[in-house]
Amino acid sequence: MRIVSGIQPTGNLHLGNYLGAIRNWVAMQEQISAEGGECLYFLADMHAISMPHTPADLTSNTREMVAALVACGIDPERSILFNQAQVPQHAELQWLLNGTARMGWLNRMTQWKDKAGKNREGASVALFTYPVLQAADVLLYQATHVPVGDDQKQHLELARDIAQKFNNDFCAEDAPLFTLPAPYIPPEAARIMSLRDGGAKMSKSDPSDMSRINMTDDADTIMQKVKKAKTDPEPLPSEKAGLEGRAEAKNLVSVYAALAGTSVDAVLAEFGGEGFGKFKPALGELLVEKLAPINQRFVELRRDTAALDAILKAGSEKARALAIPTLERTYTALGLVRG
Ligand code: TYM
Repeated sequence: MRIVSGIQPTGNLHLGNYLGAIRNWVAMQEQISAEGGECLYFLADMHAISMPHTPADLTSNTREMVAALVACGIDPERSILFNQAQVPQHAELQWLLNGTARMGWLNRMTQWKDKAGKNREGASVALFTYPVLQAADVLLYQATHVPVGDDQKQHLELARDIAQKFNNDFCAEDAPLFTLPAPYIPPEAARIMSLRDGGAKMSKSDPSDMSRINMTDDADTIMQKVKKAKTDPEPLPSEKAGLEGRAEAKNLVSVYAALAGTSVDAVLAEFGGEGFGKFKPALGELLVEKLAPINQRFVELRRDTAALDAILKAGSEKARALAIPTLERTYTALGLVRG
């Protein structure tokens, strides 16, 4: 098994990233390193330039994200932790795959439609070809499994389509070049929603900080955000079906279940019939209990920027070594002459 996944260093790590993806990165690291496979986790800094950005912020966010990932439990000794910018093979493979990806496929990507909005003419070319770089990220390492939240499912399907078409067009039937990667999406916390709007996902790009719990929030901030989270006036139901049509309530109960490592039904068995006046403080306390140790480690790690840079440098060296053979085979399959 080869596990590969990435995160954009465009701001704070939030609860949606953690429950939707990073927790599984850590779980897979435990499992895979015991079985002798590899986990590669990277900062998608090359993706981050697809939107307007401030260079100095990208640099500091990249380091902070390394600190946050290590604080969450990613161990650079057991997983390969790096940033795309130090492994140019990602960008090279993207160009090679641009010949296989179709305009129509990219035009259908919901992230492109959402982020470009009405102003497609003014969007960057990088935003449009973003999913091809994402395909290169995983195909470069022959990833078998990609732990992500639900919002990345479509991009992963595109990576499979690109791999399949490339294999069909340029490889012998019995010698495909690319492994088709399978998304691994958690059954419970696949899509954590905004605390202010149960119809929007929790996101770094939401202008309101009250919409998300950052992994770096202190206890008071967490309690405040949960207290102010949007809900409805009804008490909690005793069964899951009773949450239908109550997006905000459903989201908070799902967060509780994911953090407590239990099911939505088990949470409702405990809190069914109770109002939010009782449930919210319990959720806030659980969040503080689970996030405080991560926050504490993060605060210690972020200070040592030299150590964070060293982690990325060492990880990037290992990643390059794994990337080169597949990249070379791709050049050859396309008939490109290499010295
Ligand atoms: P990014 O940086 O937006 O998010 C990182 C991971 O967090 C998950 N996630 C969520 N999960 C549940 N609920 C939410 N509200 C929520 N918000 C974010 C995302 O699904 C993701 O798993 N394009 C990717 C980065 C990327 C990548 C890759 C991922 C680049 N190349 C290759 C996997 C494989 C992105 O912008 O994720």
